[in-house]
Formats: sequence, C-alpha cells, structure tokens
Amino acid sequence: MNTKNQFLTTDLRKALGNFATGVTVVTTVSKEGQLVGVTANSFSSVSLEPPIVLWSLKKTSPSLDAFDHCGRFVINVLALTQTDLSKRFASPIPDKFSTVAYSEGIAGLPLIDNCVASFQCKTHQRIEAGDHILYLGEVQAFDHQDHPTLMFCKGKYMQGSELAVA
Ligand SMILES: Cc1cc2nc3c(=O)[nH]c(=O)nc-3n(C[C@H](O)[C@H](O)[C@H](O)COP(=O)(O)O)c2cc1C
Repeated sequence: MNTKNQFLTTDLRKALGNFATGVTVVTTVSKEGQLVGVTANSFSSVSLEPPIVLWSLKKTSPSLDAFDHCGRFVINVLALTQTDLSKRFASPIPDKFSTVAYSEGIAGLPLIDNCVASFQCKTHQRIEAGDHILYLGEVQAFDHQDHPTLMFCKGKYMQGSELAVA
C-alpha cells in the first residue's frame, strides 16, 4: 500500500495505467497557422446537455500556446489500425502532419482521416491542475464510424473484444 507523500511518481503512473482508455490525437492551429497535434488518453466525456468533453495537457508541452491561443480543439479518436499515428503525435518531431491525411473542419482545424470518432470543440473552460492544464470543450460538431477502436492499458496498445456475459 502506498500512502501520500511516500509514493514514487513512477509507481503512481504504473497504478494509474491499469485504467484502460482509448487513444486520441487532439489537434488545433497555432497563431502562425501551423497545424498542431498531441497524442492524449486523458480524454473523457463530461456532460451531454450541454455537450462537454475534457482532456489534459502537461504544462511543459510546446503545444500549449497553440491550444491556449486558438480556443478550439478537435478530439480525433484513433482506430485500431492507427498506432503509427499515436506514436507520431507522441513524439517531439517538428512537422507531425507531413505524412498525415486530414481534412479541414471548423476554423480550419485538422480532422484526421479514418478515425473512429471526432469531436470539434470550442474551449469552454481552462483549469490549472498540478502539472497539467485541463481543457473542457463544448462539442460543436461530431462524427463517428464503425471501425474497431484502439485501446491503451498498462503502457501497451490493445484491442477490445466483447465478453460473453451471462
Ligand atoms: C498513449 C499515450 C497517451 C498520452 N496522453 C497524454 C495526455 O493525455 N496528456 C499529455 O500531456 N501527454 C500525453 N501523452 C504524451 C504526449 O503525447 C507527448 O508528450 C507528446 O510529445 C506531446 O506533444 P508535444 O511534444 O507537442 O507536447 C501521451 C502519450 C501516449 C503514447
């Protein structure tokens, strides 16, 4: 048992990693008009009426200014076949979009092709929380497709399959 002030961040990260999630790439456009995207599994639904979702970004991210300035973001939920995109947008490479197929959504923000769902959001609230910034977004448009969803659990990419529950 780990108790507060005694645990290691690495242990906490490992314990938190037992919670299975999907994987998203959150996109926006910088002040200079450059496309920006970050792999994030902190995405969560918050409210249906009005439709609000959230995700969080570490304060040290070089992409933070773009999300703050634009005031809009798109949550692109990755399909099982898109682990390459997850790895690409989790790397600090200069032009993450150079090999990525996308179309333009509201305000020219990138909607990545062949994702299982996309949520085009206007930033509703920005909250500082420890070493991360929480972005709550009001969903202005969304889309979804019936492909298998990429999952992430215990630090590994996974696929989900339905359980036969009596
Ligand atoms: C599966 C997965 C989920 C991640 N989730 C988050 C997240 O929710 N928030 C975050 O700040 N970084 C997250 N990261 C790390 C960022 O993707 C990574 O730091 C990336 O370089 C951020 O882009 P940037 O360099 O433009 O900030 C995740 C990485 C992976 C592989």
